[in-house]
Amino acid sequence: MPGVITLIKDDHKTLESVFKKLEKAEPGAIPGLLQQVAELLVPHSKAEEQVVYPAIKTIVPDEGSDVDDGLAEHHHVEHTLRELLNADPEAPGVDGLIAAMIGEVRHHVEEEEQQILPAFAESASNQQLSDLGDRFTTAKEQARATMRSRT
Ligand SMILES: [Fe+2]
Ligand SMILES: [Fe+2]
Repeated sequence: MPGVITLIKDDHKTLESVFKKLEKAEPGAIPGLLQQVAELLVPHSKAEEQVVYPAIKTIVPDEGSDVDDGLAEHHHVEHTLRELLNADPEAPGVDGLIAAMIGEVRHHVEEEEQQILPAFAESASNQQLSDLGDRFTTAKEQARATMRSRT
């Protein structure tokens, strides 16, 4: 079982590949791609919030404020994503809103990958990283199931 950091980075890569498509998408393809973003991003963020961020705060208290910023970024991005999912893809402003959302997520991912996760990897044991990987996957599956039951 790969450790939690590998799992998180793999999710980020998958998300980035959808962003690349979204940046080039014709209006007709936008709703489906936004749906893909939601299905990847929302369970990933929930699992980070439930399992990973609390562990980081416990093991690396110095990262507490970065983790709190990360949490606020999750909420802001989800708000923008909901707005986009309800928008007409041809409406004026949608392109700009998509670009803004992608920019925010990229910034957030960079902060996790360059700052928060390396600090965590330095202080956590391999056993902790591996256990958290299992719990991260379970939390993501649960969040995904909750999402499906709502749609
Ligand atoms: Fe992440
Ligand atoms: Fe995150």
